[in-house]
Amino acid sequence: VNGKIEIPVVVNVLYKTAAENISDSQIQSQIDVLNQDFNATNSDFNDVPTLFSGVKANVGITFVLETINRKATTKTSWGTRDAMKKTKQGGLDPTSPTTKLNIWACTIGGGILGYAQFPGGSSATDGVVIDSKYFGLAGSGSYPYNLGRTATHEVGHWMNLRHIWGDATCGSDQVADTPTHNTANYGVPAYPHYSTCTGTPVEMTMNYMDYTDDRGMYMFSNGQKSRMEAIFVAGGARAAF
Ligand code: ARG
Ligand code: ZN
Ligand code: CA
Repeated sequence: VNGKIEIPVVVNVLYKTAAENISDSQIQSQIDVLNQDFNATNSDFNDVPTLFSGVKANVGITFVLETINRKATTKTSWGTRDAMKKTKQGGLDPTSPTTKLNIWACTIGGGILGYAQFPGGSSATDGVVIDSKYFGLAGSGSYPYNLGRTATHEVGHWMNLRHIWGDATCGSDQVADTPTHNTANYGVPAYPHYSTCTGTPVEMTMNYMDYTDDRGMYMFSNGQKSRMEAIFVAGGARAAF
């Protein structure tokens, strides 16, 4: 990567209720969380256990809020099949998806906090969706997902990161410096939490790509950083950024 990576961000707000029409300041708070989490300036970065201090990463990617689009709708929930990304289906088409990160804030439903498209998919649906209840800080933010970490996790996927347990029992996330996890972790696991997988390593439950509560996740690893950087180089899936 030549120089630092700066990601222009477009936020698309779809609302039926006043609570879903999240404020500009709530939106900015989410951008601030992304900038902290991707630049190791999050206040809980110091809580990373010594065991992982050699691999905890300053990813060094900056997010710049460019535009906020808002649209009133009659839909009470949008599901996970990309309707919110289509003006023809009552949503909002993405703006310049090959050169900007589009984030949709709307009610997803079904207990889904957010979802993301991996690199290499259709540009018409590229970006991440975050339920308005879990978007940024305060406002409609809902405990224990009120610290903006749903977006950190989803943007991790958008930058090609897999779940740390590899979506299988003792699966692989294709990152060498993250331990093999037995499965997803929830809540805020006590440290150390041992894996039942080969070698019984201590799991990195505080990684953003696990499923813990927002206050339980506060680091990416160097291996994850390399995997994210790789998509932005010439020939990479997000080279246009
Ligand atoms: N369930 C969502 C996903 O798989 C996001 C989980 C985010 N976790 C959180 N603590 N906010 O993409
Ligand atoms: Zn995920
Ligand atoms: Ca790993």
